[in-house]
Order: sequence, then C-alpha cells, then structure tokens
Amino acid sequence: MSDAGVATWNPELYDARHSFVWQRGADLIDLLNPQAGERILDLGCGTGHLTAQIAARGAEVMGIDSSTEMIEEARKHYPTLEFRVADARDFSLGQPVDAVFSNAALHWIQQAERVASCVWKALRLGGRFVAEFGGKGNVQRLVNAFYRSLEALNVNPEKDPNPWYFPSVGEYSSILERQGFDVTFAVLFDRLTPLEEGEDGMRNWIRMFAGVFLAAVPAKGQGRFLEGVESMLRPDLFHDGTWHVDYRRLRVVARKASV
Ligand code: BEZ
Repeated sequence: MSDAGVATWNPELYDARHSFVWQRGADLIDLLNPQAGERILDLGCGTGHLTAQIAARGAEVMGIDSSTEMIEEARKHYPTLEFRVADARDFSLGQPVDAVFSNAALHWIQQAERVASCVWKALRLGGRFVAEFGGKGNVQRLVNAFYRSLEALNVNPEKDPNPWYFPSVGEYSSILERQGFDVTFAVLFDRLTPLEEGEDGMRNWIRMFAGVFLAAVPAKGQGRFLEGVESMLRPDLFHDGTWHVDYRRLRVVARKASV
C-alpha cells in the first residue's frame, strides 16, 4: 500500500487502526481469481495480508513495496513468503509473472506511466493486471477541508502538499492502452468507509495518511488545523459516534495483449 518516498510508515499502527485498507481489498482477490501454480506479483503489498491470501489460493506470490518498514512487518507475519523492497516505478523481475495485483497503493505514485511500463515488462504475454486504488474524487471532502483549514490559519505552503494521484477511468485506461494493454474492465465507485476509534478516528487517519498536510502547519497550529478540519467534516462524515472517509475506488483489469 505504500508510496514511493512520500512518507515513513508505522506498520504496527497501520495494522492496528487501519486494517480496513486490506480488509476492504479482499474481494479484489476474487476479481484476480488466482489459480494454483500461477506466478503473481503483489505490487505495493504493505504488511502482506493480501499477499498471503493470494498464496492461500495456491499461487506462487511475491510482494514488493517501497517501504522497508512495511516489508519487514510482512516478513514477520509471513516468513515463508517472498517480499522485497522495490519502487513500483522502477522494478524488474527475473522471470515474467501471470498476473500483477495491486490494492490501495497506486494513488501514492504520480508517475503512472512509469508504473504501467514496469507492470507491462513484468507480465508474460496474455498476463493480467488487476488493480484498485483511489480514483477521481477520492477523499475529496477531506482534501477540500485540508485546504480550507490551511487557509483559515493563513498557511500558504510554497509547494502543494497534496501527494495523491486519483485518475478518472478515462485517464487511467488511456495510460494503460498507450502502454499496449487491453483494458477489459474499469469502474469508479464510492465506498464510504467507517473509521475505528470513535471521536479520534479522523485525526488518526490524518496523522497516518495525510501527514504532509499537517506538516505544512507550524507545530503550534497543528491542533487548530485538526479541529478546523473536523468541524468542517463533522456534518457529512461523523455519524453515530463514528467518522467516515469518502473513499472512491478505481478498479481496473487489463491484459497484456498476446497478438
Ligand atoms: C485511499 O486508499 O484511497 C487513500 C489512502 C490514504 C490516503 C489517500 C487515499
């Protein structure tokens, strides 16, 4: 799940408080439909839970992630599986795989063309790429509140802190097609997701995933930034003691055409 250099991850906190990231991705494995004996790459595998579920279906699977911390945690959880630290924009495999799978990772990488090129080279002819990540409009309410809260505090970062890449179906399909893939399935759908930890859920999510916005604020103003964001979001995203995130997923299946 992790990015190529945007943040340092705390894998224990990620697993303890944000397990929905991989739990919600589990049905993507049905779309992948791994077969016994197939060679599969899990790109941006995070702490390796979905990698292990793919292995449990009998496939020979390897997980890669750009975060050393995540890979160490994955190896601790699943010592019999193969995990490597690698950048999704710049990796190669010794032997081509039957499928590349990716859940909740690719929205951290702006250079989607470079990822598509590496995925293409990693696949055998006829192999498939099955991915889900944040699509156009993902966490839009949160992003709007981050900018409004920065503005309210008179914080004007020199560089836009937004680290995310949330393409539309058309934009991402075009990137894959230009690479040579046949896109056989692409859909954008809302997935309003409840957070754990009641009243603290939103600030914990922000600290885990949107630390770059928080870091743009001088330390003494960070509490006010969080309070500002929460008060803007509360009417829409806090219900019955639970915060929600306005996730919107882009799901794609593409084939490395064999003709
Ligand atoms: C996502 O899974 O869509 C996501 C996760 C963290 C930050 C932004 C988006």
